[in-house]
Amino acid sequence: MTSPGKAPIAVALDAPDAETAARWAQAVVPHVAVVKVGLELFCRTGPSVVQSVRGASGTELFLDLKLHDIPNTVAGAVRAVNRLKPRYLTVHATGGAAMVRAAVAAAEGITIAAVTVLTSMDDDALEGVGLSGPSLDAVRRLAALAVGAGAGALVCSPMEVAAVRAEVGPGIVLITPGVRPLGADAQDQARVATPQQALADGADLLVIGRPITGAADPGAAAAQIAAGLRR
Ligand code: C5P
Repeated sequence: MTSPGKAPIAVALDAPDAETAARWAQAVVPHVAVVKVGLELFCRTGPSVVQSVRGASGTELFLDLKLHDIPNTVAGAVRAVNRLKPRYLTVHATGGAAMVRAAVAAAEGITIAAVTVLTSMDDDALEGVGLSGPSLDAVRRLAALAVGAGAGALVCSPMEVAAVRAEVGPGIVLITPGVRPLGADAQDQARVATPQQALADGADLLVIGRPITGAADPGAAAAQIAAGLRR
């Protein structure tokens, strides 16, 4: 599912502008399989940022737009994204099975990755939107719903990845943010795991941003984390 020889890491290019994102991408693509463009950068710079970060490298792209609308509108957005040829595109599983199915049907060569529950939502926040009970129950339910609707990948926290793997079985790509190498600053991520732990628990692709992009030498930081995974 990822390029051979490269670490199963998606570097979150949460940059203030396209030039910085392109510079980071160029530095890390020799070491990691995927780069991730998020909503903020995409909205600020427009779809052209995809070509800027991909450059001549042809690296795989994770477009993290977290789509959530009526099925017809999401399908239209996915058709518009097809020409950008990302490897992964995110939608919210809470949009429902029909919405996820519409995204999957519209996608050409893109794996639809469903976000289960945002890690910013605690049990109280979930109760506020009508999802009562432990958050892990909602995560498992939404994971099963999204996979049943054809999603080929799921985004979940490293704390949930073992339970989600047990729920959906093999063959679904599990993508986990909130990953921090030992000794790295957790920043605003409340629940973190090391890259090794997340992979051991069943993750396939680790989203890592600031521990790499905030380093003085992002290329060296990516190489070091990648080497740690090979040991
Ligand atoms: O810098 P850091 O490693 O915390 O970056 C994590 C990336 O993963 C960010 O782009 C963030 O938006 C994204 N993300 C997350 N938690 C989620 C979903 C996405 O941190 N539940």
